[in-house]
Amino acid sequence: MCGIVGAIAERNITPVLVEGLKRLEYRGYDSAGVALLTEQGALDRRRRVGKVSELQAALQAEPLAGRLGIAHTRWATHGAPSERNAHPHFSGQELAVVHNGIIENHEELRERLKGLGYVFTSDTDTETIVHLLEHKLQQLGDLSAALKAAIPELHGAYGLAVISARQPDRLLAARSGSPLVIGLGLGENFLASDQLALRQVTDRFMYLEEGDIAEIRRDGVQVWDAAGNPVQREAVQYHEGAEAADKGEYRHFMLKEIHEQPKVVQRTLEGRLGSDHVLVQAFGPQAAELFAKVKNVQIVACGTSYHAGMVARYWLEELAGIPCQVEVASEFRYRKVVVQPDTLFVSVSQSGETADTLAALRNAKEQAPGQGGYLASLVICNVGTSSLVRESDLCLLTQAGPEIGVASTKAFTTQLVGLMLLTLALGQVHGSLDKALAAELVDELRRLPTRLGEALAMDKTVEKIAELFAEKHHSLFLGRGAQYPVAMEGALKLKEISYIHAEAYPAGELKHGPLALVDADMPVVTVAPNNELLEKLKSNLQEVRARGGELIVFADQQAGMSNGEGTHVVAMPHIHDLLAPILYTVPLQLLSYYVAVLKGTDVDQPRNLAKSVTVE
Ligand code: G6P
Repeated sequence: MCGIVGAIAERNITPVLVEGLKRLEYRGYDSAGVALLTEQGALDRRRRVGKVSELQAALQAEPLAGRLGIAHTRWATHGAPSERNAHPHFSGQELAVVHNGIIENHEELRERLKGLGYVFTSDTDTETIVHLLEHKLQQLGDLSAALKAAIPELHGAYGLAVISARQPDRLLAARSGSPLVIGLGLGENFLASDQLALRQVTDRFMYLEEGDIAEIRRDGVQVWDAAGNPVQREAVQYHEGAEAADKGEYRHFMLKEIHEQPKVVQRTLEGRLGSDHVLVQAFGPQAAELFAKVKNVQIVACGTSYHAGMVARYWLEELAGIPCQVEVASEFRYRKVVVQPDTLFVSVSQSGETADTLAALRNAKEQAPGQGGYLASLVICNVGTSSLVRESDLCLLTQAGPEIGVASTKAFTTQLVGLMLLTLALGQVHGSLDKALAAELVDELRRLPTRLGEALAMDKTVEKIAELFAEKHHSLFLGRGAQYPVAMEGALKLKEISYIHAEAYPAGELKHGPLALVDADMPVVTVAPNNELLEKLKSNLQEVRARGGELIVFADQQAGMSNGEGTHVVAMPHIHDLLAPILYTVPLQLLSYYVAVLKGTDVDQPRNLAKSVTVE
């Protein structure tokens, strides 16, 4: 998704802007650009299709320097990826804008502005913003006043950064539906859509809220809220080491993040477990009171986070006895939903900024409890400063740290841990969870980081198995019970980064269709913990073998399964059946990683995908 970086300083800020863009590369984009106010007092820009490195090369060939500037990575929504559609967009030579999000009334604005004599040079919605601003600037003479006057005419979602050659002492920003953060320096200040872009220059941040407009100068920041009142937004010190955005010894961020799982799962559990129970306060001070009232749970999420929600449904119904529904946010948000009384709305999101999930939460909050609305909202999220966290009643922060690889790995397993904590907390409060089982699961959770470490030690075995996929175009993933969503997540990982077509099925559905596809060219991956469904699963596997299908089975070491003709069994560490979905995810992540490496794809930034989907 698009990324914004801006800076105002007493030094040449081109390197800061380019480094910021590089740090946002993980979000996915198709073109990049930078605009600066040069020492001659004119605006100038460089834009390139492709990677930030192309832009860097362009800047080397034709250098650009200045002390005020904005930069952008674009992920095409209106208009193809091309240099003319890349940001920053100009109005004349006086005004430059970069924009994340979508302006929904861009067609109407475009017609109006054309009527006023503005000439459009791109197909983007963003260009309507810059001409509208120019028009207002003509009338009002002041950039902040022009921005304030333009905002009510912009419908949609945006994070904006604006500079003008006429007012070289300020960088302007506006936030509505797309995050922006100001990085605070000494005699210099910065702006970005994600603080990660600015950790190289500062560790002090000011987060803009919905509707905020900010005027950023070298020596200070002025913010106005949605009503136009001057407000003070708190400056927050960021603590985690900047090295988190480094690959370290690993070849890819994805592999590094897979290997971080024992540590980040440990962190996600820290401070949340009592001797034999989950600390309900971990979900917030009102959690115990609210949880007691919960009769239903509705989970909403996208992508990998949706799969975490699917696993949680099995847990919530089995352990807490609470009916649970799970739906992808893009469907949920546009559907007339019948809300059962006392339903807790739970969103799951790594970034906390996914447009569909956020819209679903906002819809859910529209109706009051008791009048057809939800009892309360809770988010399981990895970013404490995100919109979903700010707008939900309760939250549980996963402690995965920044996840850079587009394909989500450690965020997923920590989400599962968060959802297990939620299940146990609800079961405890309701008295529906057997105390001995709760104590056993709490113990098992404590041992989980060690088990994950053992699963990671199978790295080389999985790497060898990946060779079976090198020439394949299709594959099938099977699971039963809570392992079905794990199979879905395994298939998603494989398609995301290796571009091999992968489908997941509940193993019991095999005979109802997918078996027709099985032959020697279709590897079948199965996750088989040692549970009551194992015998049934073994029969499903026979059905595959009988059709000449090659089987890769990740099975509990006590499951009594062994290698055979066309059957590759990987023995997994023994784990409590209820926590198996967390552990069995790991070899599937490794499998897709090694297949992608063999195929030579761009593992951390797979084609066409974005890390954080902040538009519909
Ligand atoms: C994108 C990412 C996925 C992620 C999904 C939901 O599609 O590429 O990895 O699972 O968005 O993102 P969220 O931040 O809400 O978990």
